[in-house]
Amino acid sequence: MRAVPASQLEQLFATAQQYLAGGVSATTRFNPSLGYPLYISRGDGPRIYDLEGREYLDYNLSYGATFLGHNHPRVRQAIERGLDLGIICGYETEFHTLLAQLITEVIPCAERVRFVNTGSEATMVAIRLARAYTGKEKILKFEGHFHGLHEQVMFNASAPQASLTPDGYVEPYPQSAGIPSALADLTLVIPWKDIGMLEKALAEHGDELAAVIMEPINYNSGCIVADREYMQAVRELTSRHNVVLIYDEVLSGFRTCLGGAQEYYGVTPDLCTLAKAIANGLPLAVVAGKEEIMEQVAPRGKVAHSGTYTGHLFGVLAALASLEEMRQPGFYPHIHRLADTLYTGLEEIFRRHDFPAHVQGLGARFGLFFGIREEVKHYRQVTQIDTALAEKFYRECLQQGVYFQSYGPLVRGGHHGFSAAHTLEDITQTLERIDTVVKALRSNLP
Ligand SMILES: Cc1ncc(COP(=O)(O)O)c(C=O)c1O
Repeated sequence: MRAVPASQLEQLFATAQQYLAGGVSATTRFNPSLGYPLYISRGDGPRIYDLEGREYLDYNLSYGATFLGHNHPRVRQAIERGLDLGIICGYETEFHTLLAQLITEVIPCAERVRFVNTGSEATMVAIRLARAYTGKEKILKFEGHFHGLHEQVMFNASAPQASLTPDGYVEPYPQSAGIPSALADLTLVIPWKDIGMLEKALAEHGDELAAVIMEPINYNSGCIVADREYMQAVRELTSRHNVVLIYDEVLSGFRTCLGGAQEYYGVTPDLCTLAKAIANGLPLAVVAGKEEIMEQVAPRGKVAHSGTYTGHLFGVLAALASLEEMRQPGFYPHIHRLADTLYTGLEEIFRRHDFPAHVQGLGARFGLFFGIREEVKHYRQVTQIDTALAEKFYRECLQQGVYFQSYGPLVRGGHHGFSAAHTLEDITQTLERIDTVVKALRSNLP
């Protein structure tokens, strides 16, 4: 018998388990630090409210999708307009052209655009385009980079320290049961930011490689950043070997500046994928890039891409509204002011309490590394994270009204973020609450 009655949230989870596989609609919605999902009743600005009415400052923000904050008035208006237009989907409208034009104006590599629904679908289409364009089949990806759930990219996104082969490649590690082993033969994995290894891989396999795909800011492993020289060298090497360079900007898009990581580094890939922040909570994603690669899609070319919900009007209208908001003067200065305050403040708290943790952020998303005190430069450091301490921290933060996604032991790294709706006062309040959490946790550490 329980001493304490189960909360409404626990009771709902008990019911959910009778109907939903595993009790949740998506695996990561199970909250390992609680033992059940945090059931949300609504969101507004930087805050979410659970079913029992508790309020939290949100640092997940729909895995980065609600970059403007929940229930944003412009996005809301856009959806209302979509309702007025009749909830139409599966038709082309003037808004699709308008949005595509805007994307070509702000994203450096975007000469042509296609819409899809999710980031996973975007990387699937980008890889298909690269294969058709080059006539080659293999892809190269990097350890610790996540590109979605489709079979081709489900390798080494969040592997336990996978072994290196004698010649320096990372052994492909499938991230799920059910991934055909034949796909491992089509996938080369190497450590990121090792230009010598990329040179070797391209020298040995360049004639089989269709694409090099990367997260140009590796937010999925926390927030690991490359330097411009490395990114330029990757650009030169891939061009030399006729390999399509794909930046997966599903997370990095719009996070540091309008043009995403490609603008940040000043390096232009052949193709890129965008999602999340572009439509602020609506399912819209984008494949964009060089005209000669993009124009291979039917009806001009032979690459298949279509879908009933593709470029859903709600998402398109929400993206137009979001881009308008992100283009306002003062938008990015606000983001960078919040970023500086939050990251400096967190690091100061960790150091003042001699607490084994480190924060790393760029623009509006960041990583928290527990059991680590120094800069994280490589995925292999990420595998050393103290996940038990991370879960304690996330649980205590929840008690204090600060919500971080709890990733559990299976995901190394993971990412957090703030929205444009957060104010400096919200950040200050967050830091005060985290100070309380860290002080309490520190007193229980050896
Ligand atoms: C870099 C990156 N690519 C692709 C995806 C997959 O996007 P979606 O969840 O919309 O399928 C994600 C999701 O987090 C991502 O972070």
